Amino acid sequence: MASPAGLLEILRDKGTPLGPWGDAVASVRRELFLPDAIEVGDELVSRAASPARWLEAAYSDVSVTTQVNDGRPTGPDEYRLPTSSSSQPSVMLETLSLLDVQATDRILELGSGTGLNAAWLAHRVGSDRVVSVEIDPVLAEQAAKNTLAAGLSPFIVEGDGEQGWPAGAPYQRLIATYAVTAIPYAWVEQAAAPQGRIVAPWGGSFFPYSFAVLDVRDGGRAEGRFTGYPAFMRSRNPRPARGFLDDFLHHREAAEATRSSLSPLRLAQDPDALFYTGLALPDAWHLPVPADDGSGEMTLWILADDQASWASADYTPDGREYAVAQYGPRRLWDEAEAAYRTWETLGRPSRERAGLSVTADGQRVWLDTPEHGLSSLTDPPGPRGIGD
Ligand SMILES: C[S@@+](CC[C@H](N)C(=O)[O-])C[C@H]1O[C@@H](n2cnc3c(N)ncnc32)[C@H](O)[C@@H]1O
Repeated sequence: MASPAGLLEILRDKGTPLGPWGDAVASVRRELFLPDAIEVGDELVSRAASPARWLEAAYSDVSVTTQVNDGRPTGPDEYRLPTSSSSQPSVMLETLSLLDVQATDRILELGSGTGLNAAWLAHRVGSDRVVSVEIDPVLAEQAAKNTLAAGLSPFIVEGDGEQGWPAGAPYQRLIATYAVTAIPYAWVEQAAAPQGRIVAPWGGSFFPYSFAVLDVRDGGRAEGRFTGYPAFMRSRNPRPARGFLDDFLHHREAAEATRSSLSPLRLAQDPDALFYTGLALPDAWHLPVPADDGSGEMTLWILADDQASWASADYTPDGREYAVAQYGPRRLWDEAEAAYRTWETLGRPSRERAGLSVTADGQRVWLDTPEHGLSSLTDPPGPRGIGD
């Protein structure tokens, strides 16, 4: 049944915790928030050409791409880079459950997109308590129209979410629907202390797949921990590094060849290892490329955002040492291995033991307690120690 009630049923069947949001899901029609041309995975769906399929997508638990290439007209031969979406409803609910919204909260959302999440929030706490900021002016305007069509009127404004929206502060709740490398201090300043909460997809290029859930304390500080594995679009400001693979991976003949005792597979397959290693490499991304010949081999590529340095490490199932190649001013595999070894020396902690503090001086990641900083991972390369 392609309807809000049908979506609610799908979510219930999946065991998605609805908390107090069932009424919003059942009352706010997602179809009012989607453009006529949408994309579900690789499938382009036109409402005019396939109305039933379009409606089915609207009321399925799927993320729907609503804008590609920043809305620029895109020809059939061009790559379609998703730049905005209506997030997967179960992931929206997961984020909202972390936000722990109370009926009288004032809420700031960063990343309006279609306006659906702002509409759910407005349905719950009232339109006059919700502000939503969208960096793309066309999307901001459309989101405002969409919410109005649904009978709701949260204040949707064009702007860079990095700045928050000071005119509406203080907010009891701040929620980002795009991933950030660092929590902007403006969000802490605009949150109500001591009961404010900030929920944002968080992480650098290496591992941007954690929710940071922070509580705002008196004294201009927010503190909290990490959970979930959200895969949100990253902030448009600054934009993630992009280009042809060759832009990142060049001078292969000039690479330095070494060997490493760290299995690239152990690093690539362990989310905790990726999280902690990623703290040392917020400005490089990784790409595991398995051999497709049934050999069980795999190359782990690490590529710097600035395109100057890269590394590769070849995994072979019977290997005790792995072939490494590195090029550029940085030795990215060495940096990753040093971070991994630091994580091992710390006793291979799970990500749940890490925490984040944000103050006017910036953000700081710690282990177990704020006193035990992880500067050995997060500080720029140099002699590395363990802990502070
Ligand atoms: C996953 S979509 C948001 C989904 C949305 N909440 C909804 O319910 O449809 C992420 C949005 O964040 C926006 N965005 C990215 N970076 C931003 C920034 N720095 N400030 C504000 N919006 C940003 C994108 O343009 C995109 O529309």
